[in-house]
Amino acid sequence: MALLEIKKYPEKILKEKTAPVVDINSSIQRLIDDMIETMYAAKGVGLAANQVGVSKRLCVIDISVADEKTPLIVLINPEIVERKGSVEDEEGCLSIHEYRAKIKRAEEVLVKGFDRKGKPIEIAGGDLLARALQHEIDHLDGLLFIDRLSPIKREFFKKRYKKTLSEKSKKS
Ligand code: NI
Repeated sequence: MALLEIKKYPEKILKEKTAPVVDINSSIQRLIDDMIETMYAAKGVGLAANQVGVSKRLCVIDISVADEKTPLIVLINPEIVERKGSVEDEEGCLSIHEYRAKIKRAEEVLVKGFDRKGKPIEIAGGDLLARALQHEIDHLDGLLFIDRLSPIKREFFKKRYKKTLSEKSKKS
């Protein structure tokens, strides 16, 4: 297994809609293992394939830090088929340095997709799981949580992020 480099905003691949996985072959299996390792190393609760430079509709989620009963989830070609309610909570992203914001999301979702063996699966999630599912599926559609901010907040974010990036480049 190997740690993969996590792409950071404003890298272009993060803005592109990913392509469905058509064959769950050995290179996809290796990618899944590497994504799981990379997610844990970065202390994230989810990671989408395009965040590690592969524009495929595939993500991994592990919210066990908050809810230890929920196992690691590998989702291939996921789609949200039902949404219920609305709730606002804070989000961050491994692809965005040092920024968190409150984002409105559906309170519960039902997601259909396939597991790593190609078996069809359905996941019903509330709370953090619902948020993680929506956040990761957004990634696969080429959306970041900052795309869900109000225009004013997004402008504020962009200014602040420029500063963050220039400070980071000075340090390295
Ligand atoms: Ni993210």
